[in-house]
Amino acid sequence: MTGENQKAALMQAALDARSKAYAPYSGFFVGAAVMCGDGSVYTGCNVENASYPCGICAERTAVSKAVSEGKRRFVMIAVAGSSAEKCTPCGICRQFLYEFAPDMTVLCGNDSGEYDELTVSELLPRGFGAASME
Ligand code: THU
Repeated sequence: MTGENQKAALMQAALDARSKAYAPYSGFFVGAAVMCGDGSVYTGCNVENASYPCGICAERTAVSKAVSEGKRRFVMIAVAGSSAEKCTPCGICRQFLYEFAPDMTVLCGNDSGEYDELTVSELLPRGFGAASME
C-alpha cells in the first residue's frame, strides 16, 4: 500500500503545495500532503499572519482540510520545507497529528525531495491523547 513510488508521489505533492504558501514574514515555504485511509490526498501550506502566533503550519492545514471533508483515518503525511535541511513537524503539529494517527508515517523532506521517514510516535514519544484520560 505504501510503496516507494507512493511515498515519492506524496513528497512531490508536498513540494508542489509549497507554491501556495503564504509566508511573507519567515520566507520559509512549507508544503504538506496527507494520504487518508481511503487513498485520497489533501495538501496544505503554511499560512502566516501579521500577528505571528496566528499563523498555521502546512501539516495542520492539510489535515484540517481532510478532517473537514469527513476524513479521520490517516496513513502517511509528507512535509517539504524550502531548505536543504529536512523539515520536521513543529511541536504543535506533532500533537495535532498524534490526535488522529499516532502510528502514521511522516516523511520529513527538504527542497530536493530527499526525506527521512519516521512515525508520529517516534516524533512525539509518550504523547498525550484520548487514551491518556481513560
Ligand atoms: N512551518 C510549517 O509549516 N511546518 C513545519 O513543519 C515547520 C514550520 C512553518 C511555520 C512558519 O510559517 C514557517 O514555517 C517558519 O517557522
